[in-house]
Amino acid sequence: MDPKILAARFPGDFVFGVATAAFQIEGASKADGRKPSIWDAFSNMPGRVHNRDNGDVACDHYNRLDEDLDLIKELGVEAYRFSIAWPRIYPDGIGPLNETGLDFYDRLVDGCKARGIKTFATLYHWDLPLTLMGDGGWTARSTAHAFQRYTQTVIRRLGDRLDAVATFNEPWCSVILSHLMGVHAPGERNMQATLHAAHYTNLAHGLGVEAIRSEAPKLPVGIVFNAMSVIPASDSEADKAAAVRANDFHNGMFFGPVFKGEYPKALLEAYEPIMPKIEENDLKVISQKIDWWGLNYYTPMRVAADPDPKAAYPAHIQAAPVHPEKTDIGWEIDSLGLSHVVRELYATYDLPECYITENGAAYNMGVGADGTVDDQPRLNYYVDHLSVTADLIKEGYPFRGYFAWSLMDNFEWAEGYSMRFGLVHVDYDTQVRTVKKSGKWYSELAEQFPKGN
Ligand code: NOJ
Repeated sequence: MDPKILAARFPGDFVFGVATAAFQIEGASKADGRKPSIWDAFSNMPGRVHNRDNGDVACDHYNRLDEDLDLIKELGVEAYRFSIAWPRIYPDGIGPLNETGLDFYDRLVDGCKARGIKTFATLYHWDLPLTLMGDGGWTARSTAHAFQRYTQTVIRRLGDRLDAVATFNEPWCSVILSHLMGVHAPGERNMQATLHAAHYTNLAHGLGVEAIRSEAPKLPVGIVFNAMSVIPASDSEADKAAAVRANDFHNGMFFGPVFKGEYPKALLEAYEPIMPKIEENDLKVISQKIDWWGLNYYTPMRVAADPDPKAAYPAHIQAAPVHPEKTDIGWEIDSLGLSHVVRELYATYDLPECYITENGAAYNMGVGADGTVDDQPRLNYYVDHLSVTADLIKEGYPFRGYFAWSLMDNFEWAEGYSMRFGLVHVDYDTQVRTVKKSGKWYSELAEQFPKGN
């Protein structure tokens, strides 16, 4: 589809950007005082990450900052969403402060400003300083306070030059995928740990918002969720009830406290004996009004009732995909899952304006003999999902921007370097970057919009 035709369906002040995260691109894992994060440890354990890949070099972005910012500029996008590595700032999670780590992000932010690129920073994109695991990591209340201190330090230094900040990226992943499913660091499989990690992550968000507001009162604060588009496998009462439980568990565990000041009742009833202690002010702190929220969407979650009558809450299983088309990572392609989740969430919670902070597809095609990367399926994925976004805007949903995941191929967590999400191809042997066909297309789309920096 001609990007100009699609562009005409978005408001003139809509922000098009690209997104990355520190651990996935920076490399330089031991440079300038950085100490290990839980992902350095996890990726070096056998059997955790595909091919035992790690973040030691990644896209070497730490050493190629200017080149990569030039690339973003050349793409013609208005904004860059990146994350800050806590282990560069407080290598042990709490003091002492590592000024050299802050200097890197200072250069990053100034580099964006000098190129007229808006800065959307994320404070936590999963690289918890490893030392904090000694206290229990996210299962400990003290980690929420350590996060507040880190946030305060970062915002004091960078807050005047950020256009927006998010406290957390995808708490579902750093809580449920990491503490219940064992897929992400620290690789636990324990419901009690999960519930504790959820509450202390939520609390850290609230404490983070306080710190941001005290340091930079005008800076728009948000949080980024990979909200699940929960779709029951059938119209049966059992599957519909399973979908309600799945919604409470996967979305309500985070949206409830943040946007309503309460946990879903069914969740509390099911797990009362192993819930963490929720102190008097916690829910007030967590539910402070925020300025925006971010939605990361890739694929729907189809659920059916667990046939095992003894299955523990939330007692659902994953149901078969409806559409045969999948991306290379095996995720069903369904752009209508995006409108489904948006409608459900705006009907359930009092939500502020929204940025789609991630959307994109894994396709692993490489550079062809002619030097180009023909990734037409990724381009099609963008066309479909952006069309749905435009429809939602027309319906009145308050979307302000869209970030493609990702600027470039990078470390895809448990999949290592085997899955490529970039608009730009990275040759990990030479670190050569090649803009893919999808990247050129996205660039043409973004260039239709005036830059408001
Ligand atoms: C969500 C995460 O925020 C990002 O780190 C990840 O690479 C993409 N989705 C793709 O899985």
